[in-house]
Amino acid sequence: MSLDEMAPPETEAPAVLRVDELAVEFRGVKALQGVSFTIPRGGISSVIGPNGAGKTTLFNCISGVAKHQGTVELDGRDLSRLRADRRATLGIARTFQTPLLIAELSPMENVLLGAHAGIRGGVVGLIVRRPAVRADERAARARAAELMEVLGLDPDDTRRAGSLPHGDRRRVEIARALISDPKLLLLDEPAAGLGADETDQLLLDIQQHAQATGMTCILVEHDVGLVMRVSRHVVVLDAGRLLVAGDPREVAADPRVIAAYLGDDWSEDRQ
Ligand SMILES: Nc1ncnc2c1ncn2[C@@H]1O[C@H](COP(=O)(O)OP(=O)(O)OP(=O)(O)O)[C@@H](O)[C@H]1O
Ligand SMILES: [Mg+2]
Repeated sequence: MSLDEMAPPETEAPAVLRVDELAVEFRGVKALQGVSFTIPRGGISSVIGPNGAGKTTLFNCISGVAKHQGTVELDGRDLSRLRADRRATLGIARTFQTPLLIAELSPMENVLLGAHAGIRGGVVGLIVRRPAVRADERAARARAAELMEVLGLDPDDTRRAGSLPHGDRRRVEIARALISDPKLLLLDEPAAGLGADETDQLLLDIQQHAQATGMTCILVEHDVGLVMRVSRHVVVLDAGRLLVAGDPREVAADPRVIAAYLGDDWSEDRQ
């Protein structure tokens, strides 16, 4: 499958995520106001918008890192009053605009940190290696190795995460998010610092994982041409407000979006 064939046509599938009237204010700055949209279940959808549009703030609201007004519903369940750790348990995983890894640990150890909620005794259990924990740990290691392989990482890599090339750090962070088997994966600019081929491969790997598991991924990405090729649904933010949301063709043809992007031609492949 090539990247061009990745985005299935939008269907009437029920939404996996619904946000309604989201609003966030930082000391007088309205980072988000009145933002409402839905995301269809499965595959990749994207959020785009100029710098400062509120994309990361939106992810912070969905994952529960930012205090917000309005509601966030996952699979029809209102998560708005729940803390980030509870939302993670219910199926929301994310990566950050700058990869957050523990530099001193190996790639495998970093990925296993994402599995701690499912291992009896948690991270402490992993460290002290209680017998009851070993079976869980074995299963978690096997799953981590599987995911690392899907993402093109070597599970036996003994280097410290801090010494890895940027692209591998991104992949480790994504594997760590995937090991909790999320319903919804939020990727904040995963392509930043990667080459075009590396980005295409990464998105293909994520698409493959989404197809195999039924997961939905929401991507924040500045390369609008790439977004239009891989997404089934696109949400456009501008200065904290929802500009438009719809399938890629609708969005690319919308005069408000063209104006916000100064008439960029999104049909062309990026250079
Ligand atoms: N912790 C914070 N304190 C104060 N203002 C903030 C904070 N986080 C974000 N903002 C402001 O909120 C607005 C939205 O920021 P946000 O980081 O969500 O934008 P973004 O779309 O992710 O931008 P970029 O494309 O540069 O990553 C901006 O005006 C930003 O300056
Ligand atoms: Mg951002």
